Amino acid sequence: MSAIDATSFFKIGYGLYVVTTNDGKRDNGMICNTVVQVTGEPPKLSVTINKANYTHDVIKETGKMNVCTLAESAPFSVFENFGFRSGRDADKFEGGALLRTANGLAVPARDCNSVFSLKVESYIDLETHGMFICSVEEALVLSDAPTMTYAYYHENVKPKPQSAAPGGKKRWICPICGYVYEGEGQPPADYICPLCKHPGSEFIEE
Ligand SMILES: Cc1cc2nc3c(=O)[nH]c(=O)nc-3n(C[C@H](O)[C@H](O)[C@H](O)COP(=O)(O)O)c2cc1C
Repeated sequence: MSAIDATSFFKIGYGLYVVTTNDGKRDNGMICNTVVQVTGEPPKLSVTINKANYTHDVIKETGKMNVCTLAESAPFSVFENFGFRSGRDADKFEGGALLRTANGLAVPARDCNSVFSLKVESYIDLETHGMFICSVEEALVLSDAPTMTYAYYHENVKPKPQSAAPGGKKRWICPICGYVYEGEGQPPADYICPLCKHPGSEFIEE
């Protein structure tokens, strides 16, 4: 079989988004990079979400979400808030939402340059993830600030790893949040990043 270089996936261009939902009790949002426009007329977007995320379950239940495009100015704290903890046990919109779209869902407007209100049309089961194919019910531009790409996040927003590990241990970096695992080799098969829950098998040696 041909080799697969895990870093080749970083060459695919992505944007970064906050996907917001509401379970009937409170607003929630999660960071997502897998948003794609799949058709133009009528416009449809696909959004792919890990089944372990609370957002997946709430979208399946309610059939709606907002996709909020992050601007380059969004600080790392936005990723910590929406990307490294779950709405199952954290109130990520503590203090209230700055803006709501007509569907009633929240928008973290200070950090976003546009928002799409989506209605789920179909669902594709991808084993670990679910792909939602959605129609667009509302779309608003909030500012002309440039959109945050995944490459920009890696270069400018995610904290850089610190100095080399002592004691001859190697350092393995989480490709999503930059968390550093120190050990003799690749993190074990069942290891998941304590910050963002990304699998240790995809950590990259420094
Ligand atoms: C940069 C970044 C990109 C992410 N991309 C995705 C993604 O495309 N799909 C996904 O399911 N989770 C993604 N995540 C992870 C979720 O944001 C994270 O698991 C979140 O805590 C889920 O929150 P929830 O349980 O409230 O839904 C990403 C996280 C980060 C930091």
